[in-house]
Amino acid sequence: MLILDEKKIRKGKPIGLPYQGSKKKISKKIIEIIKQNFGTDKIIYDIFGGGGAITAEFLLNGLSVYYNDLDKDATDMFLKVISEDKEYLKTLLVSREEFFRIRDKDDKTVDDNLKLLINSFGNNNKDYLYGKEHADIKYRLALEIIKRHDVFSGYKQTQTWKNQFRGLQQLQQLQQLERLQQLQQLQQLQRLHITNLDYRAFSEVEGAIFYLDPPYENTTHGGYKGYFDSIDFYDWAYEMSKNNIVLISSYEISDSRFKIVYEFTKARSTLQGGKSGKKYEKLFMVK
Ligand SMILES: C[S@@+](CC[C@H](N)C(=O)[O-])C[C@H]1O[C@@H](n2cnc3c(N)ncnc32)[C@H](O)[C@@H]1O
Repeated sequence: MLILDEKKIRKGKPIGLPYQGSKKKISKKIIEIIKQNFGTDKIIYDIFGGGGAITAEFLLNGLSVYYNDLDKDATDMFLKVISEDKEYLKTLLVSREEFFRIRDKDDKTVDDNLKLLINSFGNNNKDYLYGKEHADIKYRLALEIIKRHDVFSGYKQTQTWKNQFRGLQQLQQLQQLERLQQLQQLQQLQRLHITNLDYRAFSEVEGAIFYLDPPYENTTHGGYKGYFDSIDFYDWAYEMSKNNIVLISSYEISDSRFKIVYEFTKARSTLQGGKSGKKYEKLFMVK
């Protein structure tokens, strides 16, 4: 088993896009596990990088990272948010009407994708954040708060909210913008190398650390839009382990060549099915 001295975990909030299948809940621990067990002198590859939660954490820890995802939309969104400023984030707030117009466009820009991500329910890119009943009033209120007070968080202290909240619980759109803003603390982008390749493109790499968070076995969850062959992937990961340190994030791995090396007993699966209450996030390595 790998060790983790929890006292050394970075304080502060985890960062990363609100991407489906994001490792945000455990990203700070994962980086600390890697640092404590394998040091900081090896090159790190986050091959199934998705919304960048792990990559962001490596950067915050002052480490270089190769951030890859087959889906260019994911890495483009990440790069855009960290290269822009607060004024740009404000432009991502959209009304229900605008949301559906963008959703039905054929060719979506990176701005479109970000708008769909942060204005959708459960970040599913499909349904607007608010039901029809409150959509308009919440959107307008969020806009006004941004315009008058220039804040994403702490908006409940503003006079605008106090005057107009009319029993509304919260403005999720502003919370989404606040999360994106946290990503903007990332600097030192020369330590970030972005690619959009299939994982097999890294077969020649040696002497590195691979953090692998592939789409899960037997599920369509995890942010992946197409079919993923887990059996081929395990063969590849097994081979790569001969010359690299290879860590795989999963709830379960059906291939007996791999063993559990860490269990995040607090990070439960949100996936449904069977005895899902017992499903915890884990890290696996070759036996
Ligand atoms: C579980 S998600 C990763 C989530 C990420 N760790 C995060 O915190 O946001 C799996 C990712 O694998 C990517 N993916 C699927 N097939 C791939 C392949 N053959 N090569 C590289 N990436 C792939 C998907 O686009 C998806 O973003």
